[in-house]
Amino acid sequence: MAKMWAGVTAGNTDKTADDFNSSIHFDSRMYREDITGSMAHARMLAKQGILKQEAAEHIVQGLQGILEDLENGSLTFDLSCEDIHMFIEQVLTERIGDEGKMLHTARSRNDQVALDVRMYLRNETETIRDMITALIAVLCEQAEKYADAILPGYTHLQRAQPVVFGHHIMAYVMMLMRDLDRLADMKERMNVSPIGACALAGTTYNTDRAYEAELLGFDSVCANSIDAVSDRDFCLEMLSDLSILMMHLSRFAEEIILWSSWEFRFVSLSDAYTTGSSIMPQKRNPDMAELVRGKTGRVYGDMMTLFTVMKGIPLAYNKDMQEDKEAVFDAVDTVKMCLPVFTGMVKTMKANTDVMREAARRGFINATDLADYLVTKGLPFRSAYKISGQIVAYCMENGKVLETLELPVYQSFCELFAEDLYEAVDLTACVNRRISEGGTSVESVRKQIADVRKKLELQGE
Ligand code: ARG
Repeated sequence: MAKMWAGVTAGNTDKTADDFNSSIHFDSRMYREDITGSMAHARMLAKQGILKQEAAEHIVQGLQGILEDLENGSLTFDLSCEDIHMFIEQVLTERIGDEGKMLHTARSRNDQVALDVRMYLRNETETIRDMITALIAVLCEQAEKYADAILPGYTHLQRAQPVVFGHHIMAYVMMLMRDLDRLADMKERMNVSPIGACALAGTTYNTDRAYEAELLGFDSVCANSIDAVSDRDFCLEMLSDLSILMMHLSRFAEEIILWSSWEFRFVSLSDAYTTGSSIMPQKRNPDMAELVRGKTGRVYGDMMTLFTVMKGIPLAYNKDMQEDKEAVFDAVDTVKMCLPVFTGMVKTMKANTDVMREAARRGFINATDLADYLVTKGLPFRSAYKISGQIVAYCMENGKVLETLELPVYQSFCELFAEDLYEAVDLTACVNRRISEGGTSVESVRKQIADVRKKLELQGE
């Protein structure tokens, strides 16, 4: 087929070169943005007197028809077209004749593609933000349900201090809250219109970039035409934000995998989110969590792909930049696949609170509280720390725990011990004494949940 850009050359590219060059099989997903952008462009051209009002109306109607036909399936993408921009323009010209050829006045595919990608991604950003919000809502419910379920908190994967499960869950909620903010913040920088930069240098026509930007819901226009067509920071920011989000999901997934193992048994996943083994009848594999963890690598890869593509290309547009889309689309698709599955998995996940409590009882995770107790009796912390350590060693040797070790034994280590020490090492009391802001007391956890719900306007159960 004759190329739209045939002119200096006849446009007779080799078939393999054509296939290699073509992006329609992945950029066709931006057809809505391309059509909406073109409609605004025609309107702007008409307003400025660059295009006759009547021609602009025909163009807009033609584009509307194309949009409808693509949506209802009566028009399908012609994969022999180089990209979505060429395809739409070609169909338009076939349908309305020469007026279709006027649409590409005062623009270039370089600013057009930058426009389409920004519009496409700002939409996807909102979809992803909604999915994160849905996950946060579910996590708040779970945190509320387990606001007083004590388990060992870990550092170095060693039992450290008692925490409540709700607190642990809320730690992930805080990460997701930042992910929400990061995406919103990124979207603001993304929502700047490149259209009107044309190939790279702007145009001699009397265009109104601000008007066109406004029609398309942009906050402002890119201030430099060369930057407008060369910039893919918004894709890189999105990929970075999605990588961080996936990293959070992956850490959570890793804990769920660990916790659902026989060794921990802190949580049980619902049958709807586990799989069996083809040979081992007893298995309930946490495949969903493992896939989320695995797909995180894939999203990182997408981010690295584009960073590497961009690092050495001179200004302004270079065809290398066509590689932006598959990377960023893949990351978007992957995140959109992971989030709802993850949400379903954690919504149906049950905590085995008795197992958690038992693990908390056996880990000497109240040893810090024992030392703090001696401090309240007047001992310097270092001395208190040492005595507590000796008592823990004694318990380990003799199969005892701090909660039930006899008072005379305590007193043989330090005479400051009295009956009230049992209150000091009681796990529930240990947790609820941690009233510092953001601490693990049940009260603090409830406040965290309430604050998040308020901020996101979520309903409590
Ligand atoms: N398909 C191209 C891309 O995705 C569109 C821009 C092409 N511009 C050009 N001058 N070849 O980047």
